[in-house]
Amino acid sequence: MKVAVLSGDGIGPEVTRQGVKVLEALAREGLAIEMETALIGGCAYDAGGHPLPEATLALARAADAILFGAEGGFEYETLPRGLRPGDALLTLRQELDLFANFRPIVSVPALIEASTLKREVVEGLDLMILRELTSDIYFASPRGIERDGRGERVGVNTMRYTESEIRRIAHVAFATARGRRHKVCSVDKANVLETMELWREVMTDVGRDYPDVELTHLYVDAAAMSLVRYPKQFDVIVTANLFGDILSDEASMLVGSIGMLPSASIGAGRRGLFEPVHGCAPDIAGQDVANPLASILSVALMLRHSFRRPDLAVRVEDAVARTLADGYRTADIVTPGTQRIGTEAMGDCVVARLMA
Ligand code: NAD
Ligand code: IPM
Ligand code: MN
Repeated sequence: MKVAVLSGDGIGPEVTRQGVKVLEALAREGLAIEMETALIGGCAYDAGGHPLPEATLALARAADAILFGAEGGFEYETLPRGLRPGDALLTLRQELDLFANFRPIVSVPALIEASTLKREVVEGLDLMILRELTSDIYFASPRGIERDGRGERVGVNTMRYTESEIRRIAHVAFATARGRRHKVCSVDKANVLETMELWREVMTDVGRDYPDVELTHLYVDAAAMSLVRYPKQFDVIVTANLFGDILSDEASMLVGSIGMLPSASIGAGRRGLFEPVHGCAPDIAGQDVANPLASILSVALMLRHSFRRPDLAVRVEDAVARTLADGYRTADIVTPGTQRIGTEAMGDCVVARLMA
């Protein structure tokens, strides 16, 4: 298996290094894996004037799996569109047609106290946010900042979904629910937006093929509220690109920190891009304080999906759970009575338990 390691900017390299350590440990044990690194994001722009160099895209295309870190940084925010770090990630997702983004929200027993929500709200929580990843207002035209007839500036973006785009993510949602608790909640804004009216209609239609799966619908505002009121009502939440981006950051606090949330972006085959949900966190970069568990748990998702090795995925997840049960914490999840350690040490703790 060929893995492209694209660690990017800010805390990306620090946390991805810990995910790589886990893969290296499994390779020493016999897992057949080749890793190759390439620049992406702001660091690629600095080195060669483009955030997604041809060589990086080629490496990603040739890989069986991609481990992505994070990209961005304030210094790049005034660059022309197309040259900003985030654009590289969006292009990669679209070029590889990775339309289904899985963001598992699973409460870890040892971390209940790290959540800002009450124990009874989050204990035992296991929900999957399935975010459509290659369409919506992120990608559609027209877009831009223009002048209207009176010379005033106007910002324009277009929310757009084709029926087939909705249909394929719907099938993924229902199939996913069949492997879980047989419930899908589709989140839209059908009361106001025609795009979302179509979304709801197509979800309902596809749902008829899955009579064993219960389908409910929520408007995105009510979903945002329900996620913190009674999140355990959810099994699979399927939603559009923009809403999924926002709801998953919100949901991270159910687990305790955005530093805990992994994700898997998948297309038709086994290839996937695996990345933390968080960004490059410039406020804490380079200080050995970032939580690397989202990257390590993304490696577990890679082992499960691209390597088809659920046994190894479970081992990595168990090693993370035991590290937390033993009381080790990075700064974002530290609570009274636990021991604060750095990014590197957290990676080492997980590897030690993985190999024990
Ligand atoms: P962010 O996720 O980078 O940070 C939000 C907050 O969470 C910050 O306080 C940060 O310190 C904290 N945080 C994030 N990851 C953490 C970790 N692993 N451990 C501990 N704390 C962590 O979001 P932002 O501040 O809105 O964005 C910063 C930059 O990252 C921007 O340039 C943005 O465009 C980019 N971004 C990139 C990605 C990505 O590459 N996938 C995702 C989101 C944002
Ligand atoms: C994410 C990020 C990206 C997104 C940005 C960096 C383009 O926030 O993966 O959640 O909005 O999809
Ligand atoms: Mn996001």
